[in-house]
Amino acid sequence: MMRGLVSAIKALARDRVGAVASTGSGYRGGWRSWNNGRIGLSPTATPASPYGACLAYDEGVVSNVRISPNAYRRVVMGAGIMLAVIVMSGAAVRLTSSGLGCEDWPTCTEDSLAPEWSFHAWVEFGNRLFTGVVSAAVIAAVLAAHFRTPRDRRLVFLAGGLVLGVLAQILVGAAVVLLELTPVSVTAHFLISMLLLANAVVLYRASSTKDPTPTSTIAPLASLGHLALAAAVLVSGTVVTGTGPNSGDVRANRLPFDLGTVARLHSVIVWVFLAATVTLAVTLRGVPALQRTLQVLLTAVVVQGGIGYLQYFTGVPPLLVQLHVTGSIVVWCASVWLYLVSRGISVIEQSPHPSAPARLVSSGARP
Ligand code: HEM
Repeated sequence: MMRGLVSAIKALARDRVGAVASTGSGYRGGWRSWNNGRIGLSPTATPASPYGACLAYDEGVVSNVRISPNAYRRVVMGAGIMLAVIVMSGAAVRLTSSGLGCEDWPTCTEDSLAPEWSFHAWVEFGNRLFTGVVSAAVIAAVLAAHFRTPRDRRLVFLAGGLVLGVLAQILVGAAVVLLELTPVSVTAHFLISMLLLANAVVLYRASSTKDPTPTSTIAPLASLGHLALAAAVLVSGTVVTGTGPNSGDVRANRLPFDLGTVARLHSVIVWVFLAATVTLAVTLRGVPALQRTLQVLLTAVVVQGGIGYLQYFTGVPPLLVQLHVTGSIVVWCASVWLYLVSRGISVIEQSPHPSAPARLVSSGARP
């Protein structure tokens, strides 16, 4: 009886494989072209599994979707811009004292999802709604990485980091509201945003670089040290914010420091950072690929420092602080970009036409 059962199963399996094999000629091409021949079945593979049917379906639905490297870079740029905009809109929530405009989370109040009309509530709720746009932008970056031709798993991985970061920020944003804007939560919210921006810059760089092998134009410790100084400027700035009067709501508590002392500490770190940037600019003046980034960074640091002093001596007026936050985004993104470019030997622009050769557009090597 047992033997009869085994032969019945074998016969059933033969029938199933035969049915699937009949769909074979179609799906092989589709699967291969979608993956650009890198992953998946080999060209000679015989379809011998029930998954063949799914792959045949894939051919019809997704294999025609292709995204060029240039288009992908634009998607990443869009996601990066959205991440920068939400940092600015988050600052606007704080600087208009709308931090507790919605006192609950995820609904605005205990019994209502959206607020009644009130300026503070709608500034805060508008920022929450904008999270939806940011989420869509980072999800688009992951999906587009799947359909980019050629497909590169590094990009899928890096874009996935953006989605995880935005999910983390939704939870930290909830903590900010539920903990009534306690400075540590607001600081964490801001610094995670900066990590997300760094992730977006790395993704943008990776999506335009064929050879990601880092080859240093300066000592690795020097470039890392410069980036660490940029991070120290941001962290010390958040301590000044956590101590100062721009809390987001009068009910929020403040860090127990002296505002003048932490602002001086912040500005000393900025001076060290400026000195390090000037040293890099002098050391790397023979490397054409870095000149533009260094110019942008130096200008941004000087302008940002000026805004910093101006806002300090005028009692941190909201409009100047808003500009200062925007300047931080520029300084930070330029610093991350400088780090990446100074650690890579070349940037190869991938041709949008697969037949045309890749073009060497810059070289990090010393002339
Ligand atoms: C490269 C230059 C600079 C960068 C990148 C920078 C960055 C920052 C950052 C990230 C914050 C916190 C923003 C937030 O938490 O929302 C901040 C706050 C602040 N910074 Fe700077 N800063 C720079 C230069 C300066 C200078 C030279 C001063 C002069 C004292 C200064 C004064 C302040 C003050 C007073 C605050 C608190 C503003 C508030 O009330 O929110 N900054 N800065």
